[in-house]
Amino acid sequence: MKTTRCDRTPAWSVLQQQFDQTGRPFDLRTAFAADPQRFEAFSLSAPHVFADLSKNLIDAATQATLLELARQSGLEQHRDAMFAGERINNTEQRAVMHWLLRNPAVALTDQARPAIKNLATELQDVHATLDAMLAYATAVRADDSITDVVNIGIGGSDLGPQMAVVALDEFVLPGKRFHFVSNVDGHELAAVLKKIKPESTLFLIASKTFTTIETMTNARSAKAWFEASGGTDVARHFAALSTNVAAANAFGISTTFGFWDWVGGRYSVWSAIGLPLAIAIGADGFRQFLAGAHAMDEHFRVAPLAHNLPVRLGLLDVWYRNFHGFTSRSVAPYHCALKRYPAYLQQLEMESNGKQVDASGAALPFGTSPVLWGEPGTNGQHAYYQMLHQGTDVVPVEFVAVKKPRASLPGHHTLLLANVLAQAQALMQGKMDAGGHKNFPGNRPSSFLLLDELTPASLGALIALQEHRVFVSGSLWGINCFDQWGVELGKVLAKEVEARLGNGDTSGLDGSTAGLLAKLRG
Ligand code: F6P
Repeated sequence: MKTTRCDRTPAWSVLQQQFDQTGRPFDLRTAFAADPQRFEAFSLSAPHVFADLSKNLIDAATQATLLELARQSGLEQHRDAMFAGERINNTEQRAVMHWLLRNPAVALTDQARPAIKNLATELQDVHATLDAMLAYATAVRADDSITDVVNIGIGGSDLGPQMAVVALDEFVLPGKRFHFVSNVDGHELAAVLKKIKPESTLFLIASKTFTTIETMTNARSAKAWFEASGGTDVARHFAALSTNVAAANAFGISTTFGFWDWVGGRYSVWSAIGLPLAIAIGADGFRQFLAGAHAMDEHFRVAPLAHNLPVRLGLLDVWYRNFHGFTSRSVAPYHCALKRYPAYLQQLEMESNGKQVDASGAALPFGTSPVLWGEPGTNGQHAYYQMLHQGTDVVPVEFVAVKKPRASLPGHHTLLLANVLAQAQALMQGKMDAGGHKNFPGNRPSSFLLLDELTPASLGALIALQEHRVFVSGSLWGINCFDQWGVELGKVLAKEVEARLGNGDTSGLDGSTAGLLAKLRG
């Protein structure tokens, strides 16, 4: 597999020229006036997701050059290497195969994909574990004595399942409550323990490594509470979801569901880490979630670049970050059930692409991951949209709207949809005749993702879309999207500081840390 970092391709300098000539004065209002077909030309359909990209600062020439940039960078080869199970996570020497978790078992016979045949053992393991996990989920669902499921995990072992359980609330089995404990702050676990009883609770200890200090601390405290509160039968009330089944057994948990080192933590909701979701929405619902993601995998794998939605979004990300210099993107889901979606995307994008060196370790001469942030609309409108409309920084917004509601309160959904359309319109159109403080500059870019309904399948497709768009920008930037060395230093220092908090030793510390440590002990 041969890839070329995007800044070393001929297309990169063409883009720079295009930006200098047309980028700065590019005006969306003029572009729409000049081209009545702009909406059609810049919108596309992918499985479960329709995307209107026409309100972005891009014309046909730049679009063509960005596609050329992708070709020259070797994006297709890199993508194919991922789908062939090559070890593209080079700093950890691991394959990257979260997509295999969504691959139907039937594809083993797929003549068109020889690479998949080499992964027959892995695919069999995936389906054996999936079947076992779904059988367990079905049994838990049928067990009325279990009323509360507590997931203890952090990062990818929390954000994915939590985001999805909240998003699919309309599909969740009545009579069971789901709790997510991630923070090592004891207030979080204590608040959940107040609400539950040992005999009616199932604890799921979710940790890829089974070493993460927050999760291990919470798991130990949960087990101690369970035993001290009269709980018996740990085997029935605790299950572990991990690649490190031996560590889970050593911890005293015998019910375990495993996965593999080729699944990154932030890409693991499709694995055993998705068990809370499987209990919540059932085996069929979880299979639909996987099927929606698989449909998006296939779209990303085979659709021509120009019609490939993850590619188009990833290219816009590069265009905005490296040519326009935009440093953030606001995520605006107009569905309250998607309230954890921005937090989920923060880990996905910023842990994957928040890197300052390329995969070979060479310093990058350009910006990488944008800051992602956001809240569900319309709440954000009454908080920070002021800045989006009139602030000095341009922040591209990515709206998500859902056509058909499941809640039936009259009038609400039309009003919600009116708001999302109006915000996208206002950002673009602006208003310069009101005078002074009341003027809006407009020409502020946005993308609009539209789902027909929020279902397990459409959520799966939406999340897989986001995974692949992160891959696209990361691939062009030459980054290894699948490691996260940047989280290590803080973990090491926390251990050392914990000891110092106990013994008061401040020797060798910087003045600020020493001062704060003394205050905390005082
Ligand atoms: O510290 C970051 C991280 O490694 C994430 O990548 C991961 O999702 C999270 O910690 C939790 O890790 P684990 O699932 O191994 O407990």
